Amino acid sequence: MGIEVIKNPETMREKIQRARSEKHLIGLVPTMGFFHEGHLELMRRAREDCDVVVVSLFVNPTQFGVGEDFDDYPRDFERDRVLAEKEGVDYLFAPDVSDMYPEGFSTYVEVKGLSEVMCGIARPGHFRGVATVVTKLFNIIPAHKAYFGQKDAQQLAIIRRMVTDLNIPVEIVSVPTVRESDGLAMSSRNIYLDSEERKAATVLYRALKRAAEMIDAGERDASVLKEKMKELVSTEPLVSLEYIEICDNIYLKPLQELSGELLVAIAARVGRARLIDNMLFDLG
Ligand code: PAJ
Repeated sequence: MGIEVIKNPETMREKIQRARSEKHLIGLVPTMGFFHEGHLELMRRAREDCDVVVVSLFVNPTQFGVGEDFDDYPRDFERDRVLAEKEGVDYLFAPDVSDMYPEGFSTYVEVKGLSEVMCGIARPGHFRGVATVVTKLFNIIPAHKAYFGQKDAQQLAIIRRMVTDLNIPVEIVSVPTVRESDGLAMSSRNIYLDSEERKAATVLYRALKRAAEMIDAGERDASVLKEKMKELVSTEPLVSLEYIEICDNIYLKPLQELSGELLVAIAARVGRARLIDNMLFDLG
């Protein structure tokens, strides 16, 4: 059986309710489309684990700020449909904006604190839009498991917090970041880069690797690590650094001395693209 495209939220919910009543294990992969290997990896994980796999494809306007790239965000529905079908996805949920945000819509989900640091500083309101749409998706598609990429570490931490705080009955599964052969994290926004910018953009990964080497060698001082990373990023004039953060992976609280499960995260502008990347470390 091929993939079934569904636009209507009620129709989608009925299909999943029926599958649940037949004791099928349901997996959900939320996306904004323009699929790359990162998205496909989430689908493969869901396909391995679950009986029924739903991919949602919705470029969510509430998570884009004024002046951000909502209108220009890359879209290619037919290509995405074929790629998802090849991965054995059962349903592609692709609602219109008016299906998700009908007139009168006025309820939002806000995860305080976690949404106001790191990417939340340059993108106020962004994570409120993410938390709101993901809550809606969890209600429309009552899945047992939902798959998210480690590439968006802050988004993942926020969704985990929200699911715990609001008792949402879904298991969040994180999937490691998929990279290009030169280390650049895959992103739908990489198409904004011209060839010079594309080369320069690898400095995000190079800086993270530099940090990893230093951590391996025993460095535990966050300021020293950040300074070395900044130095490396500054060798690329096309890259304008937004932040480097070293923090715990649950509360996203900055660390001075490294310990436990921690995140080294970086964000930068390269041409018209805003790129993010991170590495997780477990120092016990
Ligand atoms: P989008 O950017 O399309 O990403 C969809 C999912 O793919 C997210 O969980 C993201 O972390 C994951 N992903 C992206 N690039 C990846 C990579 N290189 N390796 C592994 N996983 C990767 O994130 C969103 O959409 C939206 O905010 C969404 C959660 C769908 C809410 O609108």
